[in-house]
Amino acid sequence: MSGDGALGLGSFPGTRMRRNRADAWTRRLVAENRLSVDDLIWPVFALDGENRVEDVPSMPGVERLSVDRLVDAVGRAADLGIPAIALFPYTDPAVKTPDAREATNPDNLVCRAVRAIRAAHPDMGVVCDVALDPFNSDGHDGLVRDGEILNDETVEILCRQAVVQADAGCQVIAPSDMMDGRVGAIRAALDAAGHRDVRIMSYAAKFASAFYGPFRDAVGSGGALKGDKKTYQMDPANTDEALREVALDIAEGADMVMVKPGLPYLDVLHRVKATFRLPTFVYNVSGEYAMLKAAAANGWLDGDKVIMETLMAFKRAGADGILTYAAIEAAERLKAG
Ligand code: PBG
Repeated sequence: MSGDGALGLGSFPGTRMRRNRADAWTRRLVAENRLSVDDLIWPVFALDGENRVEDVPSMPGVERLSVDRLVDAVGRAADLGIPAIALFPYTDPAVKTPDAREATNPDNLVCRAVRAIRAAHPDMGVVCDVALDPFNSDGHDGLVRDGEILNDETVEILCRQAVVQADAGCQVIAPSDMMDGRVGAIRAALDAAGHRDVRIMSYAAKFASAFYGPFRDAVGSGGALKGDKKTYQMDPANTDEALREVALDIAEGADMVMVKPGLPYLDVLHRVKATFRLPTFVYNVSGEYAMLKAAAANGWLDGDKVIMETLMAFKRAGADGILTYAAIEAAERLKAG
């Protein structure tokens, strides 16, 4: 960080800040941050069956896609130069159980989608979420016993979930569950299974946020959820604690860390990047996306402009990359220049 000495050398009228803003070409020259397609990760939702497309009403423009359709959609992302997608399953409620056993089934929807995407688009990065909520009849990220979310028992299942996903070809495991000790355990499990080059992007500072509501509609976990996630996701009041969470995940072997949600937590993102200086991602979550889309649909905001401004805000705060449902439209805009 620069000290005050680097700021404000001159004073008015010799100094006129508007000079550098006077033309598009100077504005381009002095821009401090850039947003590029290389910064984007596109979260997508997989659905069972064939040739199926379902809208997610609370996320305008977002669809659940059967694997065949998803492969095509990922192809469009690849053509635009988007480096990676993040994959989430809409699990048939009939296969959800209290022990979330579908999470470790090597032929579950996620694993089938990974295999198909990797076969069709071998250069696309595939990020898989590790957490039990899409598979758990309680809607929680961990196992539940007598109302308690069990930590260590959950971590054992997460390790097996990570290994089946890596076996299917996923290159980045992204634990979003916020159990203690899971990054180290998953690293050991991946290495033991011969996946030493599979990366871990940990949802290191993930807050117990109401901005996840539309995502829970998209994966169908919202109706199932009993209670809230406050005993494992972080209290929105805390930032020092976020730094401890990130430090622990790095010590356990995380290759990349994430802050989530995005816009309401830019301060956390900035502190994490400034403190640790390692690849730092931010999740521009479903509720943030829904807010902008709803306002744009009402004609209250210019949707294109607020999306690009939001993504730039993440770069300014220190993000190396952004998970955003607007990845395709943002990539198209960046391409158009
Ligand atoms: C599940 C998970 C959630 C999101 C990503 N992985 C929801 C939750 O924790 O309840 C949220 C993504 C979004 O809102 O866009 N572990």
